[in-house]
Amino acid sequence: MTLLLHADCIEKYFLLEGQKVEVLKGLSLKIEAGERVAIVGSSGAGKSTLLHLLGALDLPSAGEIYFEGQPLSNKTHDELARFRNQRLGFIFQFHHLLKELTALENVMMPALIARETHQEAKKRATELLERVGLDHRLSHRPSELSGGEQQRVSLARALINRPPLLLADEPTGNLDGVTSSEIHALLNDVNREHGTALVIVTHSEQLAQSMPRRLHIVDGKIDQDERDVQ
Ligand SMILES: Nc1ncnc2c1ncn2[C@@H]1O[C@H](COP(=O)(O)OP(=O)(O)OP(=O)(O)O)[C@@H](O)[C@H]1O
Ligand SMILES: [Mg+2]
Repeated sequence: MTLLLHADCIEKYFLLEGQKVEVLKGLSLKIEAGERVAIVGSSGAGKSTLLHLLGALDLPSAGEIYFEGQPLSNKTHDELARFRNQRLGFIFQFHHLLKELTALENVMMPALIARETHQEAKKRATELLERVGLDHRLSHRPSELSGGEQQRVSLARALINRPPLLLADEPTGNLDGVTSSEIHALLNDVNREHGTALVIVTHSEQLAQSMPRRLHIVDGKIDQDERDVQ
């Protein structure tokens, strides 16, 4: 087993109108390369907050996050941007697609930032959009797509650089049952084919149970680390 991600004693609080809002209170977790993990917990438990920290989109108030053995706090702004672009895929709870770009262009963007040729980026983006069932929506802008379609575009965008880790916040929250099942199957295919580790925040019991490991967040910590017996 190769350790991919290690969050060591993470604390996170926000200051709001002079009040300290403590969200994570010394949370630790380890994720191995290629692992599939669900993160569950009640609304407001700090799941999105944790995912943002793991994805280096926000800084912990205390504690350290190591990715492939390297502490994230040592990286410069540019190194973090490169790290997010090349080593991570992120699917947000609210899609964050660029609204002036088409579906195809949104998916191509991380590949272009990673200096892939336009031709290669377009080829991969088209293939991924086909895979999420959106080959008939390539030139639609986000406002011309349904919520579920936008979520599928953001999944394709998260995968284009074939990252070793995919962080997903409610990836099937807006989708109907059939489409959700297809997206779960696609996530599992990506995991199997490319060894992409999956860390998925979900309220869906079905999705959580389909993962071999479930981390329960209660009171700012991992309350239960539940693994299926292999
Ligand atoms: N920028 C902020 N300032 C102050 N409080 C915040 C901030 N961001 C989040 N919080 C608080 O932190 C707590 C955890 O929020 P978070 O979004 O991580 O919850 P969650 O587990 O993802 O919930 P949900 O399942 O509803 O998405 C909430 O109580 C929220 O009000
Ligand atoms: Mg959330």
